[in-house]
Amino acid sequence: MDKPRLAWAITGSGHYIKECLDFLLRLDHVDLYISQAGEEVLRMYGYDLKNIRELMPVYRDKAASAPPVGLFYKGYYHTFVMAPATSNTVAKCVLGISDSLVTNLYAQAGKCKVPSIVFPCDTAPEMETTAPGGKVMVYPRKIDLEGTAKLRTFEYTTVVDTVEDLIVKVEARLKAVA
Ligand SMILES: Cc1cc2nc3c(=O)[nH]c(=O)nc-3n(C[C@H](O)[C@H](O)[C@H](O)COP(=O)(O)O)c2cc1C
Repeated sequence: MDKPRLAWAITGSGHYIKECLDFLLRLDHVDLYISQAGEEVLRMYGYDLKNIRELMPVYRDKAASAPPVGLFYKGYYHTFVMAPATSNTVAKCVLGISDSLVTNLYAQAGKCKVPSIVFPCDTAPEMETTAPGGKVMVYPRKIDLEGTAKLRTFEYTTVVDTVEDLIVKVEARLKAVA
């Protein structure tokens, strides 16, 4: 087997999607996973999957049993990054639900003791975000913030609150496994 790789999942979030892509598309040895909503949202923000596929392997959510998760059991990935992570995906993850490609990746990474770095959308009660038409304000609910807080307590999980911290944590991890 080649050197272990980084698995990066994108969910259906407009919040910091551009900043996450700007960073991750510059990395080597990354496999990109995209939720069904992520695929739609990427299109709404003007991204073409064809161009992304030229830079790295892309896995879409097309099967009920999320077959690629088996790769964690083979030591294929050293780290799982979920960024940006929607309120929906975070809510499922903290309940232990794994009924989609991305929620399965998070669950299986944990079960294989592979560290996850997660950048949730809901990190503060009031945030500016980028809708397809421009900037808007968003006010995450108590339940959304509770999801983020609960995720921080999960084993093998590092939750970051900013893109800057996401970059620092991912780069530190890549250095550690190099
Ligand atoms: C243009 C657009 C932007 C969105 N941005 C966000 C977002 O920033 N955060 C969020 O939690 N949901 C956002 N959503 C809603 C999610 O895509 C939706 O909850 C979806 O079911 C999430 O599925 P997933 O978690 O499997 O990706 C957005 C939807 C659209 C259409």
